Amino acid sequence: MIVDTHAHYDDEVFDPDREKLLGSMQENGIEKIVNVCASVDGLNDTVKLMEEYSFIYGAVGVHPDDAGKMTQETLDEIRRLSCLDKMVAIGEIGLDYYWHKEDEEHKIQQEMFRAQMDIAREQKLPFMIHSRDAAQDTMDIVKKYMNKGMYGGIIHCFSYSREIAREYLNMGLYLGIGGVVTFKNAKKLKETVLYAPLSQLVLETDCPYMSPEPNRGKRNSSLNLPFVAKAIAEIKGITPEEVISATRENTKRLLGI
Ligand code: NI
Repeated sequence: MIVDTHAHYDDEVFDPDREKLLGSMQENGIEKIVNVCASVDGLNDTVKLMEEYSFIYGAVGVHPDDAGKMTQETLDEIRRLSCLDKMVAIGEIGLDYYWHKEDEEHKIQQEMFRAQMDIAREQKLPFMIHSRDAAQDTMDIVKKYMNKGMYGGIIHCFSYSREIAREYLNMGLYLGIGGVVTFKNAKKLKETVLYAPLSQLVLETDCPYMSPEPNRGKRNSSLNLPFVAKAIAEIKGITPEEVISATRENTKRLLGI
């Protein structure tokens, strides 16, 4: 049974068939799913999914894309929702300098990233990080927090070098591995997956994005995770079953589900 640690089923591209799709998960070997908040306006959509489906859990937080829209009220709401039983992490939070190039935007992103890391510590929850083109600043902030004590975390859709992976792994953090690992040109990620201990990897889709081969470019869903498990298994020279059972154990250890 597979656990998807990072999905966005509240996305409107699932509107036409969400119920049918989610209804087919368990019979197809998807045991549990963590639906991850991203936008300021979407926080309650994850709560709804958690309430509706026994196998869906939540992560609450706001993506750096939306950092500029956040207010004290947003932070209060995140803190409030993080107390819900099925809320297992704070995410996705972090820095994205690929879409946002202005210094002023970076400052706001950093401020909101820190504010949400504070909530993770306060609520004793792991964090889920999104980081794109912001390797150094993300590392600096994460390191500072880890030094003063946190409750673990996942670097989601890990896209940096093996050297950066090593630093996160040494801090005891997990790497979220998704569809990209199946791409022919993903040399850097394949190196990282080979290097990283299996005990620090978790499976994720980031659906509707990041569909693995052979479904690259199409809408993604948790049903594609066997392709990701197979790619990791090939890189590490083990069976897909070993990947699935180890990543499931890792998720249990970190997120308690
Ligand atoms: Ni995501």
